Amino acid sequence: MTYKMTALHPIEKRILYHLDKDDSLTIEALSQKSDLSIDQVRRGVERLKFKKLVLITQDSSIFFELDDRGKSALLKGLPERRLVIAIQLEPDKGIATVAKSQAFEKDELGAAIRIARDQNHWLFQASGDSKRANLRISQSISEPSAEEQVIERFRNVKRVSATELNDLEKKGMELLLRRPNYVKRIQEQIVTISMTTNGRSAAAEIDVLESHRGEFIRSEASAEDRPGTIAIDLHAAVKVAYPGKTHPLTDLIAEIKEIFVSMGFTEIEGNIIQTSFWNFDALFTLQDHPAREMHDTYYLSGLANVEEIATKEQITNVSKIHNKNSINAWDIRESNRLVLRTHTTPVTLKYLADNQPDEAKLFSVGTVFRNEKVTKGHLSEFFQIEGIATKPGASIRDLMGLQTEFYRKLGIQKVRFWPTFFPYTEPSLQSMVYIESIDKWLELFGMGIFRDEVALPMKIRNPVLAWGGGLERLAMLRLGVDDIRTLYSNKIEWLRSVPKCQL
Ligand code: PHE
Repeated sequence: MTYKMTALHPIEKRILYHLDKDDSLTIEALSQKSDLSIDQVRRGVERLKFKKLVLITQDSSIFFELDDRGKSALLKGLPERRLVIAIQLEPDKGIATVAKSQAFEKDELGAAIRIARDQNHWLFQASGDSKRANLRISQSISEPSAEEQVIERFRNVKRVSATELNDLEKKGMELLLRRPNYVKRIQEQIVTISMTTNGRSAAAEIDVLESHRGEFIRSEASAEDRPGTIAIDLHAAVKVAYPGKTHPLTDLIAEIKEIFVSMGFTEIEGNIIQTSFWNFDALFTLQDHPAREMHDTYYLSGLANVEEIATKEQITNVSKIHNKNSINAWDIRESNRLVLRTHTTPVTLKYLADNQPDEAKLFSVGTVFRNEKVTKGHLSEFFQIEGIATKPGASIRDLMGLQTEFYRKLGIQKVRFWPTFFPYTEPSLQSMVYIESIDKWLELFGMGIFRDEVALPMKIRNPVLAWGGGLERLAMLRLGVDDIRTLYSNKIEWLRSVPKCQL
């Protein structure tokens, strides 16, 4: 079975790579070879074990090290050896005198005599004499004792493993262990990692570069100074990927909604089909206003029920205002005609009329329709964004401030305001924004404060600041598109060319 390499973490790959070179390694050795920390190795090994790519064996191993007396015995010989040598040199002197010359420690002499005589048989009692003083040297002193052989093992090494000892040495070690301060017994847990067959086939696929990527990047040495390493060019072109993604306009709508929300606005929605009453009349667009003409508005066949258009009071109030301001009499039959909304402002007004908020910040993003020829710069169906803020005492300055902040959040810094005309606002302004990339000032959103002729019939008492305009013009600036139709043509090359995000 081959393991799916993509499922392995770079650390896991690096561990496998090093295990492949040595059959089995301890955690410590792996950490050293791979330049990973002990903790990284431990975690990586656990994951590899879970994936059945490595085996972990835990052994406890026993070591010995010389203690103080053991170390001096290595230099000067064990006390029993020193004793017999001294006796051999001066056989006629009594044992007490000999002992003095060797400067034995307090408990050492007794032990040395006992071991030399009873254990090693280096000394024996002359027949008929029970005095310690008359101990004689035997023939066998040339043979090193088991303890001596063990001590000798430490001549060049600090520690000796229990597994390295032969039978005689083992016996010697046991004897030495019984004597105080000669050897220390140390028990250690050793964790050894080795590969399973699956691990081996996984390791065969590992790309050295990949498993050591971090190492190369971290290295301060240049590629030439490190044989076997390859420098990685972080600016090299990468393979272009075309994953599925949301449409650029969808992204822009999401961004705009996010901006409104971040400024404390709440979204409202309304119908795409409106009555002329809300789309025009209530917004003080007189019934003979040119914008209502066939070439600007899509009228639907059929009429709305007069009772359903608005409350009686609202209809009466609006009709009075129109009759006062127009030479032609206001006609309900013009008001109940159905239209595809030409802007989103009727939605705003209806919301304020229905809810009568004392204070509110609202926004909407919705499709609007205008009976225009589709050209490079015009669409007959497009998105409009609209924001309104109302509170007692709100002024045109507040509106300009909100606008400036809104634009700033869109990345547009330079904004100018210009007087203009809308039937439903007074004053009315047009905002102009400076677009650096094309070095031009462009008209973007219309804005103003609802006129009394609009607010009062709906019993709205506080000033209503409103602004709105087409989303696609903003999209053109954002996406560097000079033909508005591109946004809807859905040409795959164009869609692919729009980056999803940019630094
Ligand atoms: N409704 C206007 C338009 O269609 C924009 C606008 C909104 C103007 C609100 C003033 C206030 O362009």
